[in-house]
Amino acid sequence: MGIYLDNAATSYPKPEEVYKGIEAFARASGANPGRGGHRRAVEAEAMINDTRRLLARLFGVNRPERIVFGHNATDGLNMAIKGVLGPGDHAITSVLEHNSVSRPLNQLEKAGVITLTRLPATADHLIDPDEVARAFRPKTRLLALTHASNVTGTIQPVGPIGRIAREREALFLVDAAQSAGAVPIDCEKDCIDLLAFTGHKALLGPTGTGGLAVGERAAVRPWREGGTGGDSTRPVQPEEFPHRLEGGTPNVFGIAGLREGVRLLLDRGVEPILAHERALLKTFVTSVKRPERLQWYGADKVLADRNGEGRVGLVGVNLPGFAPSEVGAILDEQFDIAVRPGLHCAPYAHKHLGTFPQGTVRLSVGILTSPDEMLRAAAAIDEITAG
Ligand SMILES: Cc1ncc(COP(=O)(O)O)c(C=O)c1O
Repeated sequence: MGIYLDNAATSYPKPEEVYKGIEAFARASGANPGRGGHRRAVEAEAMINDTRRLLARLFGVNRPERIVFGHNATDGLNMAIKGVLGPGDHAITSVLEHNSVSRPLNQLEKAGVITLTRLPATADHLIDPDEVARAFRPKTRLLALTHASNVTGTIQPVGPIGRIAREREALFLVDAAQSAGAVPIDCEKDCIDLLAFTGHKALLGPTGTGGLAVGERAAVRPWREGGTGGDSTRPVQPEEFPHRLEGGTPNVFGIAGLREGVRLLLDRGVEPILAHERALLKTFVTSVKRPERLQWYGADKVLADRNGEGRVGLVGVNLPGFAPSEVGAILDEQFDIAVRPGLHCAPYAHKHLGTFPQGTVRLSVGILTSPDEMLRAAAAIDEITAG
């Protein structure tokens, strides 16, 4: 059986409950939520609203109706960035961002709409709250940062950073693509105004699910306007949430699966799953026979000596003498191990690491990864380095 170590791209396999949740909903109900008063439409709407409630609990959000569904984290990030920023605004971001944060911001800057500051990361791949504080200007409207880097796996200090943004009266947008379901999140406590999440990674749902949690301080202009199933007499998009930002039929089957993933996370707790994932990576790092032959970018020490503290379940490595793409192909073709080589859609993060443009080989674990799979991955890496 092959080994899947690309959970940071999308989690696979999904827990049984998720597959069953999709099938049960698709067969038994399957209607368009809120579009008509019949029983099935009402059931679909209730299922979606139940998923909003579960996500609100998981994210520390007081008002479930402000959990807006979209296609993925990219959709949520675009909704937030384009719905908040206007002419003359200043935004702050960092080198650790995925292109789904960098590209919309870069485009607005290029078009002359906003000015942009990109913060560096420390040698430990963190964003320093003091650097954040220094970057504010009178016109700073938005601070957009990733919660957990998909390249280094480091978890950013969103609490202290959020409080700085709140004091300066700017909005704090957090890209939770790698942290939602993987790391405890509390939007209220950490002053997060906008949380973009994806449903298909650590939230364990299917692809095509995700969205944005919108705090009460954030006014977001609708980016996608259309039918909402409610009052159709209004000539423009309704003001109230979630309809304000949810034009069009949602991914009902996908949300039915996502609901089961989030239920499972709430039942088991995010922290034990994170501990399981860190232990798996520790098994990998401590089982590679000649770790000195690999480049670890600091991760080996953190994983082996500090149980992966401050990181999510991924590690990036390089094998001297091999391009990351070659290692990825060998692992796939000769060992049936799926990893993700390259730049991971985060070119600035690789510039920071000194691995641009070739990137790294990323191994990312999930809730269903086993210690035995990590031993087999370590043995495969040993075989490649031994030539
Ligand atoms: C940090 C980060 N942000 C954003 C995204 C985009 O997620 P999605 O493709 O689900 O929109 C990813 C996906 O890899 C990511 O790792």
